[in-house]
Amino acid sequence: MHAHRTPAHPTHAHHTYDVLVIGGGVIGLVTAWRAAQRGLRTAVADPAPGGGAAQVAAGMLAAVTELHYGEQDLLALNLASARRYPQFTAELEEATGRDTGYRACGTLAVALDADDRAHLRELHDLQQRSGLDSQWLTGRECRRLEPMLAPGVRGGLHALGDHQTDPRRLAGALLTACERAGVALHRSAAVRALLSGDRAAGAELADGTRVAAGQTVLAAGSHSGRLEGLPPDVLPPVRPVKGQILRLRVPEAYRPFLSRTVRAVVRGGHVYLVPRENGELVVGATTEELGWDTTVTAGGVYELLRDAHELVPGITELPLVETRAGLRPCSPDNAPLLGPTRLPGLLAATGHHRNGVLLAPLTGDVMAEVLTTGRLPDEALPFSPQRFTPVLQEQSA
Ligand code: GLY
Repeated sequence: MHAHRTPAHPTHAHHTYDVLVIGGGVIGLVTAWRAAQRGLRTAVADPAPGGGAAQVAAGMLAAVTELHYGEQDLLALNLASARRYPQFTAELEEATGRDTGYRACGTLAVALDADDRAHLRELHDLQQRSGLDSQWLTGRECRRLEPMLAPGVRGGLHALGDHQTDPRRLAGALLTACERAGVALHRSAAVRALLSGDRAAGAELADGTRVAAGQTVLAAGSHSGRLEGLPPDVLPPVRPVKGQILRLRVPEAYRPFLSRTVRAVVRGGHVYLVPRENGELVVGATTEELGWDTTVTAGGVYELLRDAHELVPGITELPLVETRAGLRPCSPDNAPLLGPTRLPGLLAATGHHRNGVLLAPLTGDVMAEVLTTGRLPDEALPFSPQRFTPVLQEQSA
């Protein structure tokens, strides 16, 4: 089973697999795990597998509370993945013996003033029209659920099905699951695509290793569009969208501080507080179009604490234990790219934007299916990477 494992000094070595997954974040690892389970000889290339955006993400599974107008196909995809979470978690925890921090706690989205309330009412209407399970609560009802909320809360939406998981634990468990399923881990970045005729055929890594593969999956988050050696029209059009996020700790004596995810739109920005059972309280997140910048700024931290404090004044008592910034991989329509590109042998699993953790179970299943059978499941058809193929090139093809 381990005949294809990476040797200790792999420089200029050659390896051959059925599938090479470029990127070992949550999306790359879940793809590799599911592919290996289907009997495909699979490798992952990443200098630090298990890292990436999952190390920053809050882990909200927020299909209902992050619903937006005009994103009905994405809603269906998000809901399909949310439904898979309990079974996915059980299977992953069984395979690895590791807890992934999945918590079926629901989410409360609240309004702090009349404008927020109007915005939330519109969201509630959209949710109702979309057949989603969310209940409108008065301010008093919100505070009965979460006594730490500010007294001025004007009302809220209770989304009973928007849960959470712990992305760091999830990434760690997926890495273990990959290792146990026989996935080869090449701890080096893919820098250049290998081509064989008109097919993708693997990649050359930064350490000089050449990894040949029948199918190559671009799953490198924001970096997915940067692999050299590919025709420009097959590179996924993903860009980084920065998010700054904080981690606080709730001392034993203060617990339960919050019992579910609490969120609000304050001055047009989203703020959310995600309480973990182990006492961690995640406060996120900024949304910034600043390219590859991952600086944590005083302004970013200030805005998050200011908005979170308006929502839950007691947070100022809590130790602030971590500040961090990460990059969401965003596509032109905010939806992921799943499945074959126009280049035979090259697939994408990227562009998950705000929904990477939520979409992990479904992405793994969809990608394993298309890698094994060549057929993209129906639910993923609207998310083909080929929807971004320039019209002129399509006509001349
Ligand atoms: N889904 C939460 C975020 O991207 O900030």
